[in-house]
Amino acid sequence: MGSKDDVVSLALSDDTGVSIHLHGATILSWKCKGQEMLFVSKKAVFDNKKAIRGGIPLVFPCFGPWENGPQHGFARIKRWKKESESKQNDGRISVSFSLEDDEETRKMWNYRFKLIYTVDLGGDDLKLTLTVNNNDSKPFDFTTLMHTYFRCSNIENVRIHGLEGLQFNDKVAGSVQTKEDRKIVTIDQNYDRVYMKCEADKVKVENVGDGKKLVSLSLENLPDVVVWNPWEEKAKAMSDFDDEEFRTMVCVEAGSVSEQVSAPAGGSVAFTQTLRVDL
Ligand code: BG6
Repeated sequence: MGSKDDVVSLALSDDTGVSIHLHGATILSWKCKGQEMLFVSKKAVFDNKKAIRGGIPLVFPCFGPWENGPQHGFARIKRWKKESESKQNDGRISVSFSLEDDEETRKMWNYRFKLIYTVDLGGDDLKLTLTVNNNDSKPFDFTTLMHTYFRCSNIENVRIHGLEGLQFNDKVAGSVQTKEDRKIVTIDQNYDRVYMKCEADKVKVENVGDGKKLVSLSLENLPDVVVWNPWEEKAKAMSDFDDEEFRTMVCVEAGSVSEQVSAPAGGSVAFTQTLRVDL
C-alpha cells in the first residue's frame, strides 16, 4: 500500500484510524472500531503514477472522460503536500493536504488554483472537506467528486437507502435519464448511475465492512451521488482489479458532477462529506 514516505497515518485509538497516500491524497484505509470500511483492490498499483484502485480517490477538475487530460482529472494522480496536523480538544484529529497548479496541470487546464483537503477523524465518523481556491484572475468551472470505495462482505447484501424518487443518469444504458422508484437500491449487475439532487442527510449504505454496518453520508454542496459496480465482465477488463472483487466492493461517490461548479476569480468553494458508522 505504498512506502512509509508516501503514506500519512492518524490513529485515534488502537482500533480507529485513517491512512492517506500522498499520491492523489487518496484515503487508503478507514478503520472504525476495528473494522475496515474501505475497499482497496489487491491488484491496485502503487507506482505514484496510476490512480489508486480503491479507498477514496479525489476527482477534480473533471468527472468522467476529459478532452484535456485523463479520465476523472488530475487530482488523483498528482502528489499532494501534507500541510498540517492537529488534535482538537474534543479528541478528534485532523490532517490537511494541498495541491497547487504547476506546469503540468496548466498544460491541461490553464488556471491557477490551490486545493485544500482536510481529513478529520472522530470515533465513529470521517469528515472530508475539499476546498477549491481559485487563485487566478479569471473564473473557472469544474466538477468534483469523492470516489468512495466501500468494502462489503457480499455485494448481494448491500442496500442503499435515500435515493427513492430521484432522477438518475444511467450511464450503462447510454446516459438515459430515469426516476428511481425503489426505496432500497440493491445491485445485481453493472451499475454506473449518477443520482441527482440528493438530500443532504438521506443516503445510507447498509451492510458495509465485515459485518452489517450502516454508513450514513452527510453531504454539503455535493448534490450528486454516483453508484458504481463494474460487475463480472467489466471487472475482467480492468488490469488493476481482481476478477472476483466486484463482489466485495461498492462505490457510492458524493460529488458535484451533473452541473459545472463555478469558482469566481480569487474566490473559493468548499465541499464536505461526513461518513458516519452506526455502531
Ligand atoms: C465512476 C464512473 O465514478 O468511476 C464510471 O461513473 C467509471 O464510469 C468508474 O468507470 C471508474 O473509473 P476509473 O477511471 O477509476 O476506472
